[in-house]
Amino acid sequence: MTRTYAIRTYGCQMNVHDSERLSGLLEQAGYERASGGVAEGADVVVFNTCAVRENADNRLYGNLGQLYPVKQRRPDMQIAVGGCLAQKDRARIIERAPWVDVVFGTHNLASLPVLLERARHNHEAQIEIVEALQTFPSDLPTRRESPYSAWVSISVGCDNRCSFCIVPSLRGTEKDRRPGDVLAEVRALVEADVVEVTLLGQNVNSYGRSFGDRFAFGRLLRSCGEIDGLERVRFTSPHPRDFTDDVIAAMAETANVCPGLHMPLQSGSDAVLRAMRRSYRQERYLDIIARVRAAIPAAAITTDIIVGFPGETESDFEDTLGVVRAARFASALTFKYSPRPGTPAADLPGQVDKDVVQDRYDRLIAVVEETALAGNRAKVGSDVEVLVSVGEGRKDGVTGRVSGRARDGRLVHVAVGDAEVRPGDVVRATITYGAPHHLMADGGIIEHRHWRGRAVANRPEPAAGRRLLPLTART
Ligand code: SAH
Ligand code: SF4
Ligand code: F3S
Repeated sequence: MTRTYAIRTYGCQMNVHDSERLSGLLEQAGYERASGGVAEGADVVVFNTCAVRENADNRLYGNLGQLYPVKQRRPDMQIAVGGCLAQKDRARIIERAPWVDVVFGTHNLASLPVLLERARHNHEAQIEIVEALQTFPSDLPTRRESPYSAWVSISVGCDNRCSFCIVPSLRGTEKDRRPGDVLAEVRALVEADVVEVTLLGQNVNSYGRSFGDRFAFGRLLRSCGEIDGLERVRFTSPHPRDFTDDVIAAMAETANVCPGLHMPLQSGSDAVLRAMRRSYRQERYLDIIARVRAAIPAAAITTDIIVGFPGETESDFEDTLGVVRAARFASALTFKYSPRPGTPAADLPGQVDKDVVQDRYDRLIAVVEETALAGNRAKVGSDVEVLVSVGEGRKDGVTGRVSGRARDGRLVHVAVGDAEVRPGDVVRATITYGAPHHLMADGGIIEHRHWRGRAVANRPEPAAGRRLLPLTART
């Protein structure tokens, strides 16, 4: 009988995309996707983990604990743990949860099917972690989760050493993919009716350094602009250190590059940025934003912010609030600083008291909500084009709305009346209401374009009620 699999993914878009590869690998090896979730009877359960903050660790061990009784009942079921936390904890995973069958890391996704087989055959847990990438993961088979929107890796790893961050030690140094390979993949996706791609890298602005082209990222955006049928190009994440004007020009001058920018700030205080080893300063960050807004007036800018970095004073924190107001962020992913073993910041003096961190965190969210709400309210009365990602299932007569992203990345719920709108379709509508985290367009649709893949025979329908694709990193 065919064995079934389920994958649970934590962490950022890199992991979401890696899970598409894990699915591809398992299906190539003869496994089938289980119809239920992780707990509901899959023969192989894979956790693709994240280690960027401590709560990610705790969550994995909690989930493994829940599977223990299931494994007792069904000893034939296998549990595999991969991704960043596996790369970090290695054999410790088996020590803490001896019912785990396979541990694999971020550099050897392709080993998963063999390790599962070996664990079954030998009745013994298999741990395989390697230190460096063997094949660029884009060469692996992939089962994409969305038929109209796709992730495309342009680089893996990171050469920066932000003092709070564990990512470089788990994902390795930056490896760039050749532009020709990236573009060939994008073209193949568009041939397969993908209309939106998100280019992925830990620091997309340093793309090209390894093959000696400082302007490679801007060029890549412009080349994407020449691909017919590709409607939306997004990317994540840029780093302010390497953000050059040619990228802003490429964004402004390339019609299919979306007017949205997710650029992590981390802190608005120069002293904290220095301690974080983030080489830009407040002024430089705001200057990039001013240039982006001058070139692309409609750009929605989003960010990542950490509160409570060691040594952060009230006045440092107020600098962060000041930058949030000045930058008028459309949204921000806000994190409480979490000491990561082995990172320089974990040993710094001046770890901030928990209550102080909580207080700053709450105040930060309140200011982000203010700027987000102001930005969204300013959209009321304007027309937006929404790529629908949650369609059927919502049209239950209760809401009559579909949901998706505007070109600038904002989440929009659109009332579609009786129109048969499906995921992948594009609708135009006028914004009637703005809340901090979403927009509403309740006045009916002005235009409706069917996704061109809709008509293709034998293509699986996009799942009803599909979860909205994450636009920015979250765990
Ligand atoms: N490469 C991306 C970020 C990857 S990690 C970049 O540099 O922009 C995603 C986010 O997690 C970071 O932007 C940061 O805000 C947050 N983060 C990373 N390490 C953290 C830590 N130790 N504690 C709290 N937040 C952290
Ligand atoms: Fe981490 Fe900094 Fe690299 Fe981002 S740029 S992955 S925060 S080290
Ligand atoms: Fe890894 Fe991404 Fe988390 S690179 S540590 S999964 S944020």
